[in-house]
Amino acid sequence: MTTPVVVCGRSGRMAGLIADAVSREPDLHLTARLSTRPQPAADALAALADLDRDRPPVVVDFTAREATAALLVQARTVPCSLVIGTSGLGESETALLEEAGRHRAIVTAANFSVALLAVAGFVRDLSGRTDDSWDAGVLDIHFTGKRDRPSATARLLAAQWRTARTRRRGRPETGEEGAEEAPDIAAFRIGNAVSEHRILAAGPGEHVEVVHRVADRTAFLPGILQSVRFAAGAPPGLYSLEDVACERLPAALGP
Ligand SMILES: NC(=O)c1ccc[n+]([C@@H]2O[C@H](COP(=O)([O-])OP(=O)(O)OC[C@H]3O[C@@H](n4cnc5c(N)ncnc54)[C@H](OP(=O)(O)O)[C@@H]3O)[C@@H](O)[C@H]2O)c1
Repeated sequence: MTTPVVVCGRSGRMAGLIADAVSREPDLHLTARLSTRPQPAADALAALADLDRDRPPVVVDFTAREATAALLVQARTVPCSLVIGTSGLGESETALLEEAGRHRAIVTAANFSVALLAVAGFVRDLSGRTDDSWDAGVLDIHFTGKRDRPSATARLLAAQWRTARTRRRGRPETGEEGAEEAPDIAAFRIGNAVSEHRILAAGPGEHVEVVHRVADRTAFLPGILQSVRFAAGAPPGLYSLEDVACERLPAALGP
């Protein structure tokens, strides 16, 4: 039995790549491509309600902030799971994600590269092991015209450093307290590079530099396809790529 998959966006770079990749997977079935513009999302998504209710689709959305917000509102009434990759989501979209995650399985990630997961883990580890004489900074380089700045990935990497630091000191990991622990982020929007994130950390007499460079958007596909399969079988909840990679389901359902 194949998993039905709906890809949002018609002309988008990610939408095209994801639709092609889904079409090549024998256990997935590309059921529809949805454009949420110019028509309202409600019209576009109404088609989903006609799909087989016994096998709700996984809707994959790599579009734009406003389109993703409209999708999340519609997902309240349309049975589906979601994989959301749109960058630059703000507080209102985060609230929508949390609300939708109470009724639907949603995988969301600032960066669907599985390699980036390992980089984030390394940043956490380095921050937790070094003392207060160490500082860090994040460089965020993307193509001209990228809408969000700094990137969600740069903010994620900075958050890894900050969280490990505040945890080591026994201070709250969120909120204003500990904000000074967050590394500075410098963002450049130049040329047509897909993305480059560089983490610099330095202490007395030594420094560490890690570079994650995406030359081709196909780098995101393994993480996205893995997330689609995970979302198809997961109970309602808001999941990260780390949950997907570790096949981490809610404790009550775990082995
Ligand atoms: N999380 C990750 O790992 C990851 C990786 C790569 C990209 N992204 C994010 O995925 C999103 C799409 O990236 P992309 O490179 O595919 O972008 P793109 O080529 O510019 O495509 C934008 C897509 O958004 C859709 N869209 C709907 N409403 C829109 C609106 N009001 N304004 C602009 N676009 C609208 C477009 O739909 P139509 O085709 O129907 O016009 C199009 O499919 C971005 O937010 C990007 O940062 C995330």
